[in-house]
Amino acid sequence: MKVGILGTGNVGRTLAEGFAREGHDVVVGTRDVDALMSRTEPDPMGNPPFSAWRSEHEDVAVGTFAEAGAHGEVLVNATLGSASIDVLREAGLADAPDRIVIDASNALDHSGGFPPSLFVVNTDSLAERIQREFPDARVVKAWNTMTASLMTNPGLLAGGDHSIPICGNDDDARRQVADLLRSFGWHDVVDLGDLTAARGMEAYLLFWLGLYGATGSPLVNTKIVR
Ligand SMILES: NC(=O)c1ccc[n+]([C@@H]2O[C@H](COP(=O)([O-])OP(=O)(O)OC[C@H]3O[C@@H](n4cnc5c(N)ncnc54)[C@H](OP(=O)(O)O)[C@@H]3O)[C@@H](O)[C@H]2O)c1
Repeated sequence: MKVGILGTGNVGRTLAEGFAREGHDVVVGTRDVDALMSRTEPDPMGNPPFSAWRSEHEDVAVGTFAEAGAHGEVLVNATLGSASIDVLREAGLADAPDRIVIDASNALDHSGGFPPSLFVVNTDSLAERIQREFPDARVVKAWNTMTASLMTNPGLLAGGDHSIPICGNDDDARRQVADLLRSFGWHDVVDLGDLTAARGMEAYLLFWLGLYGATGSPLVNTKIVR
């Protein structure tokens, strides 16, 4: 499948690597390819420059957000939450009816320092804002509830015995995303139904910060026990 990953941070890189490993044809999108490839310093999070990552992942192509958007039968939003709607517009989502968009973003507001708060919460979510902005897209929220390294490698933790929630308004899109997640090794995909469930999935970030603080590791997730 042709996949357009919008975002070059930890999430974009991990998902690009995971999709390519599963045999998908991946283009990663960025604002400015030359600027991205010429950076030599680690990013503010201490990640190696993208060019160093890319030299070890030559099966992943790099393009502008527009090029990644045009390439992908499925798009993944792995961009800064406050920029996501603009990036999806640049990626051509307004002119791509029925496109599945897997939204991994969080609505982080760092203006008050650490810990961050959320710039949309309670009665709305970033995923719903994206869906309202692009009503013909099929937005599925997934992956935002965990650290990047687990997203396509659930086996890194507890032998993969933990859960991943998803939600979205389109039943078929949710089914397709659940199948994709299973192909990455997720055995317990918890389908929460329509996109209003993204309010809880995004607010989970506040709980996740507590888990991170308590365990001292970002490699932490929840298992839903019935
Ligand atoms: N890191 C994690 O473990 C994790 C886990 C769960 C969810 N998330 C969420 O996933 C998303 C991606 O996170 P991340 O840590 O990989 O990276 P990030 O630093 O949040 O986002 C990086 C991407 O956002 C783009 N971007 C930043 N500012 C922009 C602007 N003003 N206009 C357009 N694009 C802009 C960057 O574009 P360029 O390529 O041009 O620089 C880059 O592609 C975020 O919403 C984050 O909250 C992260």
